[in-house]
Amino acid sequence: MTETTGARVDPTSVPQRRLRDGGAMPGIGLGTFGSDHVPGEQIAAAVRGAIRAGYRLIDCASCYGNENLIGEVLSEEAGTTAPREELFIVSKVWNDAHAPEAVAASVRQTLSDLRLDYLDAYLVHWPFPNYHAPYADPDARDPRSRPYAHGEFMETWRAMEQLVDEGLVRRIGTSNMTVAKLSLVIRDARIQPAINEMELHPTFQQGELFQFCLDHEIQPVGFSPIGSPARPERDRTDEDFADIEMPVLRRIAEAHGVHPAVICLKWAVQRGQVPIPFSVRPRNYISNLEAVTRDPLTPEELEQMRTVERNSRLIKGQVFLWPGAGSWLDIWDVDGTIPGWNGYADEKKG
Ligand SMILES: NC(=O)c1ccc[n+]([C@@H]2O[C@H](COP(=O)([O-])OP(=O)(O)OC[C@H]3O[C@@H](n4cnc5c(N)ncnc54)[C@H](OP(=O)(O)O)[C@@H]3O)[C@@H](O)[C@H]2O)c1
Repeated sequence: MTETTGARVDPTSVPQRRLRDGGAMPGIGLGTFGSDHVPGEQIAAAVRGAIRAGYRLIDCASCYGNENLIGEVLSEEAGTTAPREELFIVSKVWNDAHAPEAVAASVRQTLSDLRLDYLDAYLVHWPFPNYHAPYADPDARDPRSRPYAHGEFMETWRAMEQLVDEGLVRRIGTSNMTVAKLSLVIRDARIQPAINEMELHPTFQQGELFQFCLDHEIQPVGFSPIGSPARPERDRTDEDFADIEMPVLRRIAEAHGVHPAVICLKWAVQRGQVPIPFSVRPRNYISNLEAVTRDPLTPEELEQMRTVERNSRLIKGQVFLWPGAGSWLDIWDVDGTIPGWNGYADEKKG
């Protein structure tokens, strides 16, 4: 008998996703990246409040620099509010730890910080070993950065597969991928990715990659689901759209009597992705969870949400560009091919 009766939202009322291995994943989770300005202590307190409110999925990463603080909370809550088997904890290996021995060391550090015996999912945070320090300047470039190299990525992936064999992680996945790169990984993997974490919000719906994931039994997890209104300076440009200010969204929000952020999440869950909104305000993270258990969007409203698409990628990853690359578009294989050292600039010249 679990002690979830005190939760604000009954976790069993939250939609669940079935994963390729038969396991279940909560249909919404809490993000834990403080966007370089929210202190780890505040985020750990939000994790505690969120679990008590009924969240069961927490999206962590070593590069967020707060896993040790979250670990304290998890060890306390797993013994009281939510048994370990009810929780679904995700973490990610950072770009500076892609070497096989570094992957093994990294997951052990994460498990020790989070005070867990296993992770429910472990993801490769970015498909490049290109490193940037936390709080990096928008113009910062790591001179050792390089374009995607599939052979190298598969060495990292073999180390990830090994973690499943050892029972340290239940499943593995990718993040910040494209159809071109994922196709290669699927072709060559012994253990298929179960999850792909990708930027997904109403103005950036990524139709092709989203469908590709579903077709290959890869669960899409949507990061920045509200359009990351407090994202770091390095991830802002004048061309970006603000999801929660889009007129269609605001109209739908008015009709439901909620904040537009909440409409982003209803849409996400009804579409089939798992959103992982960040919030440190109980009022917000509780309303985000409640939102996906009641008062769904109508088929007409879902249809209207399709028109909000603007191809507005917010997390462009320009700090991962390598010497010789053209623009951040080189990171995202926008014409379906994976560019090399000179980016798409080569093709324009040719
Ligand atoms: N895999 C990757 O490379 C990657 C990249 C980026 C993010 N992520 C993950 O995705 C998570 C979420 O993304 P994100 O943090 O970029 O952006 P987000 O979840 O789209 O937006 C978070 C912001 O929305 C506000 N907010 C949340 N709920 C609200 C509500 N009901 N009403 C009004 N405002 C609300 C929050 O403010 P308050 O705190 O004031 O509520 C916060 O400033 C991250 O924390 C991280 O775990 C992963």
